[in-house]
Amino acid sequence: MKPLYALIANPVGHSMSPDIHNAALKEAGIDGHYHGFQVEKNQLEYAIKGMKALGISGFNVTVPHKVEIMQYLDKIDVTAERLKAVNTVRLEDGHFVGYNTDGEGFLHSLLDALDQPLSQLSFLMIGAGGAASAIYTTIAEYAPKRFDITNRTIEKAEALIENAVGKITSSAFALKTAEERLGDYDVIIHTTSIGMYPNVNETPLSLANAKKTAVICDIVYNPLETKLLSEAKQLGLKTVDGVGMFVGQAARAFELWTGITPDVKKMKSIVIEKLGGTPC
Ligand code: ATR
Repeated sequence: MKPLYALIANPVGHSMSPDIHNAALKEAGIDGHYHGFQVEKNQLEYAIKGMKALGISGFNVTVPHKVEIMQYLDKIDVTAERLKAVNTVRLEDGHFVGYNTDGEGFLHSLLDALDQPLSQLSFLMIGAGGAASAIYTTIAEYAPKRFDITNRTIEKAEALIENAVGKITSSAFALKTAEERLGDYDVIIHTTSIGMYPNVNETPLSLANAKKTAVICDIVYNPLETKLLSEAKQLGLKTVDGVGMFVGQAARAFELWTGITPDVKKMKSIVIEKLGGTPC
């Protein structure tokens, strides 16, 4: 049987995952197909059972099913267990095993922009939601000098730090405080939806106090150049856009399913072309 791959999401209409995975399958010479399915929350269990019965080789999971799906899988890998969310599932000897490639995807895109090991750098995260949690947990493993979190709701940032498995030096504070302390950080990672289309004129904080050598990352990829990244560029700072993380998680998922490393640059250019812009 031809290998079949899927995405379950709600909504699924604007996802670019089918575009990049189908292109990667073709490039790898695999006669398979990747299809996006819109699945309602109350149908999730049946969708998983149906995919098992149909012999789907692997699938991605995204909003709003990343956490809920865990109870319907046969096994969860250690990283996904730690991140408390699954974005990729692989069929292994008739069992669905859940993985999380989001943190790795981000890490991959970040490492391209760094010339020092993570252990020598100080990080600041803006936001304390699901994406922030995956990134914090992944980077924490590399024992950075410190990893602070600023969030509109400070209690959520405190909880993220408190619930993290490996303990690193971290504190939580308000966005205004972060603006004042910005010069303390080598890498600043924005993980909220501020500045995302259509609110393109919004930005989480001013970068005026950032170090000249700081790297500014934004996980938002629509628009390609958010207001935050545009300000960073004007200040002459290095930037990492959100396409890298999106494509990075997809590339890791493709590797898990096929054992083949896809051409990440090609995946990136498909996304950028669809968004109608030039990468940061
Ligand atoms: P995701 O899983 O995509 O990270 P989430 O878990 O809903 O989404 O988290 C959204 C994050 O964006 C949170 O940090 C949220 O701040 P709060 O914890 O205070 O809710 C942040 N966020 C979203 N909209 C925001 C806004 N307009 N101003 C400031 N922070 C915002």
